[in-house]
Amino acid sequence: MSLESIKYQRGNLEVLDQLLLPFQKQYIKVEGVEDGWKVINKMQVRGAPAIAILGCLSLAIELLKDNSSDKKVMRQEIEGKLNYLVSARPTAVNIKLAADELINLANTLSADESINPDEFKERFITSIEGMLSKDIEDNKAIGRNGCEAILKNLEGDGHVRVLTHCNTGSLATAEYGTALGVIRSLHAAKRLEHVFCTETRPYNQGARLTAFELVHEKIPATLIVDSMVAALMHVRKIGAVVVGADRVAANGDTANKIGTYQIAIVAKYHNVPFYVAAPFTSIDINVPSGEHIKIEERPDKEMTHIGDRRIAAPGINCWNPSFDITPAFLITGIITEKGVFLPHMLKTLFPI
Ligand code: MRU
Repeated sequence: MSLESIKYQRGNLEVLDQLLLPFQKQYIKVEGVEDGWKVINKMQVRGAPAIAILGCLSLAIELLKDNSSDKKVMRQEIEGKLNYLVSARPTAVNIKLAADELINLANTLSADESINPDEFKERFITSIEGMLSKDIEDNKAIGRNGCEAILKNLEGDGHVRVLTHCNTGSLATAEYGTALGVIRSLHAAKRLEHVFCTETRPYNQGARLTAFELVHEKIPATLIVDSMVAALMHVRKIGAVVVGADRVAANGDTANKIGTYQIAIVAKYHNVPFYVAAPFTSIDINVPSGEHIKIEERPDKEMTHIGDRRIAAPGINCWNPSFDITPAFLITGIITEKGVFLPHMLKTLFPI
């Protein structure tokens, strides 16, 4: 049984409170867009694909209760609510792309006179619901493609040690995961020797969430703190690094959890292939390069405290960017559901 970060049945949406993991497994009911915005902003749900899915489903929940019989009013409200949901966290692009697609759908449905308000609602909600199964399918394809790419570099039928950062598994997606999906696939193919996961300060997605998933799945794993990456690569043979993405720019520069950039530099120095695993919904072809990506800065408290206990000296200033940009030239390949691409090839995959 994999961990379910989002539980959905028409009219009922619950999200696993990731702030309480790994010690408590508690679901929060999401009654509409306002709740959706709050759980995303507080990081009770996090991970680029999960943010997009949860945000859009919170709109589906709200829409189901809406008795409006005016399609134009519905269209206008949908647009406003989607833009509001996008504002909850600025770096991950998946929710922005999903919102743009849904706004287009609302425009089309509202302009089509053969469609009545109930049909509008039904088609709109069904389209949102499809995101769950699409994400799982995409993740499984990412897993297969990544497993194949990594094994291609291995001599004979050897086993590989992999390093990952942050949390990109079932908790960050609808299920299975992206980078963690690749690790799951390697494990299922009996070719994974061991996975090392970083603690991922300051929010500890690695120590709290990835470690939780790896233990749950009985995948052989060891936790390291973020500052051990260079030492790990020096003393243990690491076959590949696989991380996720919050936004991949058109030139392949990638925004991901803070710390990813330094891992990529260390990987380059040690000649370890560095892969980004992400669905096409994480690629922002409209952003030419990483310097145009807005990096979210989070409250100091995430650094100065663990839970409610202060660990930093009172009075110290903090800088807490949640993400950093890994330049394309440090990335060996971008593993997607449609194949593995060199970063500079991305531009050729989208219509002009
Ligand atoms: O701040 P978070 O926990 O939402 O950041 C998550 C990451 O950076 C992940 O690597 C990324 O969203 C990909 S999740 C499949």
